[in-house]
Amino acid sequence: MRIVLVGPPGAGKGTQAAYLAKNLAIPHISTGDLFRANISQGTPLGLEAKSYMDAGQLVPDSVTIGMAEDRMGHADAANGFLLDGFPRNLGQAESLDDYLKGHDLKLDAVLDLEVPEDEVVKRIAGRRICRKDSSHVFHAEYNKPETEGVCDVCGGELYQRDDDSEDTVRNRLEVYHTQTEPIIDYYKAQDLVVTIPALGKVSEVTERAMAALKALSE
Ligand code: AP5
Repeated sequence: MRIVLVGPPGAGKGTQAAYLAKNLAIPHISTGDLFRANISQGTPLGLEAKSYMDAGQLVPDSVTIGMAEDRMGHADAANGFLLDGFPRNLGQAESLDDYLKGHDLKLDAVLDLEVPEDEVVKRIAGRRICRKDSSHVFHAEYNKPETEGVCDVCGGELYQRDDDSEDTVRNRLEVYHTQTEPIIDYYKAQDLVVTIPALGKVSEVTERAMAALKALSE
């Protein structure tokens, strides 16, 4: 399957993507994680992305689209992928359509994680991620690691993201409403959007998403 996950910052896209990708045996492709990996490796792409991310702004399409297309072209994505955080504006959505058409592929679904704004703010404030692998995500209250500050999966150090400060989160939410939300209508016009209520336990949200995907394939 080829799936796009959309939702405001802190909605739980990364958390759900990890479970859904495992259940569906497809790679989880997060442009945020790709940028963070480039930042920690000190690449020119990472250096360019960091200033935008720290300000809560989108990294320019000229950088982002090529990076996402390159990742979708890897061998492990030949039978499908779960996109998390891409596309994030109409230009990226149109480019993705062109890329898929050019490869004779299509999307199966766009899962829209729906969470009230006060909840996403709480989720972001308590988020802790692993330094070794930023797809390992915890929460200081809702999804505690067994040992404080240590990743349950790989033992890496847990830390708070630089862009999770209050001011940056406000900018990220504003960018989401103005630039990313319009892609939901774009995909509604293609009859691809499934809204997933994303309050409740992580496992309950995964079950809702899996049930919605199963219903699509029946
Ligand atoms: P990115 O890394 O994609 O961040 P985001 O979209 O802002 O989303 P988040 O990672 O903040 O949240 P999430 O929805 O994944 O939530 P999570 O699962 O962690 O992007 C960062 C930046 O990179 C952007 O601002 C931009 O600068 C740049 N960028 C990335 N992609 C780009 C693109 N395509 N174009 C241009 N720029 C781009 O969950 C949050 C917390 O809640 C966690 O602590 C988790 O444990 C907890 N939680 C999750 N589910 C639940 C639940 N059901 N109940 C209770 N707690 C929960």
